[in-house]
Amino acid sequence: MMFKVNGRHFEQQPRAGQCLRTFLRELGHFGVKKGCDAGDCGACTVLLDNEPVHSCLIPAFRAEGHAVTTIEGFAGNAAIHPMQQAFLDAQGFQCGFCTAGMILTCASLNQAQQQDLGAALKGNICRCTGYRSIEDALNGKKNVEKADAGDAFGRSLPAPAGPLVVRGAERYTFDTEIEGLLHIKICRSPHPHARIISIDKSAALAVPGVHAVLTHEDAPKTLFSTARHENDWMDPEDTRVLDDVVRFVGQKVAAVVATSEGAAEEGCRRLKVEYEILPHVVDPTEAIAEGAPLIHPGKTAEQRIGNSARNIAAETHGEFGDVAAALSASAVTYESTFTTQRVQHAALETHGGLAFIDADGVLTVRSSTQVPFLTRRTLAELFGLPAEKVRVFCERVGGGFGGKQEMFVEDVLALAALKTKRPVKLELTREEQFISTSTRHPMRVTITAGADTNGKLTALKLDVLSNTGAYGNHAGPVLFHAVSECISVYNCPNKKIDGVAAYTNTVPAGAFRGYGLPQTLIAVEAAIDELARQLGISPFEMRRRNIVKPGDPMLSPPESKYHDVMYGSYGLDQCLDLVERAMAVEAPNPPLSDEWLVGDGIALTMIDTVPPAGHIADCYVSLRDDGGFELTVGTAEFGNGTTTVHRQIAATALATTVDQIRLRQSDTAHGGHDTGAYGSAGTFVAGLATKLAAENLAAEIKTFAARAFATDAAASVLERDHLVCGSERLPFALIATAAQARGKTLHAHGNSAGTPRSVAFNVQGFRVAVNKGSGELKILKSVQAADAGRVANPMQCRGQVEGGVAQSLGATLYEELVIDDGGRIVNPRFRDYHLPSFADVPRTEVYFADTYDTIGPMGAKSMSESPYNPVAAAMGNAIADATGIRFTSTPFKPDRLFPALKEKFGG
Ligand code: FES
Ligand code: FES
Repeated sequence: MMFKVNGRHFEQQPRAGQCLRTFLRELGHFGVKKGCDAGDCGACTVLLDNEPVHSCLIPAFRAEGHAVTTIEGFAGNAAIHPMQQAFLDAQGFQCGFCTAGMILTCASLNQAQQQDLGAALKGNICRCTGYRSIEDALNGKKNVEKADAGDAFGRSLPAPAGPLVVRGAERYTFDTEIEGLLHIKICRSPHPHARIISIDKSAALAVPGVHAVLTHEDAPKTLFSTARHENDWMDPEDTRVLDDVVRFVGQKVAAVVATSEGAAEEGCRRLKVEYEILPHVVDPTEAIAEGAPLIHPGKTAEQRIGNSARNIAAETHGEFGDVAAALSASAVTYESTFTTQRVQHAALETHGGLAFIDADGVLTVRSSTQVPFLTRRTLAELFGLPAEKVRVFCERVGGGFGGKQEMFVEDVLALAALKTKRPVKLELTREEQFISTSTRHPMRVTITAGADTNGKLTALKLDVLSNTGAYGNHAGPVLFHAVSECISVYNCPNKKIDGVAAYTNTVPAGAFRGYGLPQTLIAVEAAIDELARQLGISPFEMRRRNIVKPGDPMLSPPESKYHDVMYGSYGLDQCLDLVERAMAVEAPNPPLSDEWLVGDGIALTMIDTVPPAGHIADCYVSLRDDGGFELTVGTAEFGNGTTTVHRQIAATALATTVDQIRLRQSDTAHGGHDTGAYGSAGTFVAGLATKLAAENLAAEIKTFAARAFATDAAASVLERDHLVCGSERLPFALIATAAQARGKTLHAHGNSAGTPRSVAFNVQGFRVAVNKGSGELKILKSVQAADAGRVANPMQCRGQVEGGVAQSLGATLYEELVIDDGGRIVNPRFRDYHLPSFADVPRTEVYFADTYDTIGPMGAKSMSESPYNPVAAAMGNAIADATGIRFTSTPFKPDRLFPALKEKFGG
């Protein structure tokens, strides 16, 4: 068959049933991505005779005789297409995984479609940006700035990967060809709880192309946690690479390794697995009740499991003051129970990776991970290998949001590579991503709060039941974090916490942007509003009377072991002022019919800028022969923008421009240990290490120049790519050459252990209209103010806020993984899950407080997770203000709002 792709003719026969997406990738067009393989996300968009199509839905043979254009050929003979340039100018991407498809669709819009972007872009999902920067690209808006040497920090500089991202040339996990590659498919449990009696491999092994079938008998017996932390004393050892007991529908039972995905799938179908069905429990309240089926019987506290005899993965309790007495003496009180649902990260790039044994016998894993160094450590432990015999690295990662702070696939990849001695690949499907990786922890939160007549809080009590699913990855840390800053941001003399994380026979929960705080903030911020309402005080004023201010202790019982959180800067007061002013700009009553009820709501959040218990970054920087610099950091880039910020920090400290900083990152082979790209630590921790390394190198350059050129080190400064001493101006390239002549490379190291920690703040405001006849909801205004310290890159930081609000709106209004009584997820597809599309996301006004953090690098603080946190709480408060009804269960879908609205306002 003859195909024309990007103007080039190919003669090749697609396999029977092959879709155009995989066919194009096999021809080397890696810009064609997979987000769903079901026509729901647009990551695979190509042009077929100049019309955008989802190539995953097109049989490859249908392209015969037609012209196919992928992002790689989109510019034709030009250097760059105007739409690609527009995406660069506006920086209409973060991780960039959706970008190729988005650009091709955007460039194809006619004038009418451009007037209705919500409809025109409904087939292209972006999980990162919140769509505002994409709209800017379509409007020809330029968001990027330039910077002189030494002036990079604080500027809206573009991401260095941008030119490759918009051309589809940036490499992600699977964008490579490896000779002799074998493919892994996973046979998964259909049962929520069962013991594997036997696995008959013979029929599977008889499938042509099948090389191996790996089961629990092939896997290490060692128990571990899929959660990755620098200090893993927090994570229960309750998981095996392949276990002989399955505890949720979708758990790995066996891995079939074959020469093609089709053969591996056929092998999975032919496996004969005999199960002994065990009783199961999917509800967390039932799970911790007397007599419930036990999910990890016999596992002990030594394995860091709270109480396996009651299905408790972790628990936390504490009180100071006397909450009961304070409540009975309070002028006003409020108590209610809130529930949040199970949502998924839905990063467009699914989990997966490649593994092989390299020529030096090193087990090498290229994976889609936020934590390459911690993954290397656990792989070495699991397979009994010295650390230097394991290498883990990642290319650009297509979104993470906490979901890749786990080891879900690398263990099987390593097992398969070690057993077969062949390169292997495992790429999860979208359905596998939903049913077998991790979700946010669903929580039931009961808040009890009291205040005196002056609006001063007298008592705060939280009772939390978190559902960690079948395994306890992140169960404890998420629970502890969920009851921390939401309470410690308020001064109150009496506080009490009771928290339990329960095991159930459901897909595990894990790390998710916000790390538990969004689920508890809904309850706490509702209580603050309800107390204010009873007292006739405005929500802003109620908060001003109770928030912590510099000098106040930040307390939540039980008291933390870590006392290194301090006010490196403080902008919460400014954030409240900024949102209040912005909300007051328009009249609160827009022109809507009487059917619509309008209301405002706010919520605030505080977040420690680094997770507790150790977050380490080592950075190295050296002066290259050409006078530029080589910077090595361990942290990964998945759209969080740290690559840009680290270069800005180094360029500023070394008085150069960012294009002179070449960055190597996220590869255990290059050193530069980094705990990982999570906990919003990329700017704060790795940024501090980068700053130190660059400053140390600046000192090293001065010292060397003094020896080599007889300058005065103490009187020297770095300025515009030169060392300047009096009237002498020595170019960096000259100094590098002199060093080279002496057999020396000038280099330096910087380290940060992530302590002390500062606090960052966000305040979200919404104005909404709720239709009392249908429950439909319109967002009339969305405002967020953030205290990110001195903002390292305003454009990127605004993008983190916009993206955080958009992702959180999904969890607030639509997204929900529904699990039936048998523990099976009934909607493991984008189509049935409802990720926010362009039409769903309002433009959020973003404001920054004017602060300078004395702990963070060059005054900056982290701002990645926390914009997500106050969104649901603010939305709940806005809906309550509009309707007079306090809805206590997310998502706030129309069908959930409708019954109460009907009861209050009639049909
Ligand atoms: S991969 Fe084709 S639409 Fe998602
Ligand atoms: S930039 Fe759109 S999905 Fe990441």
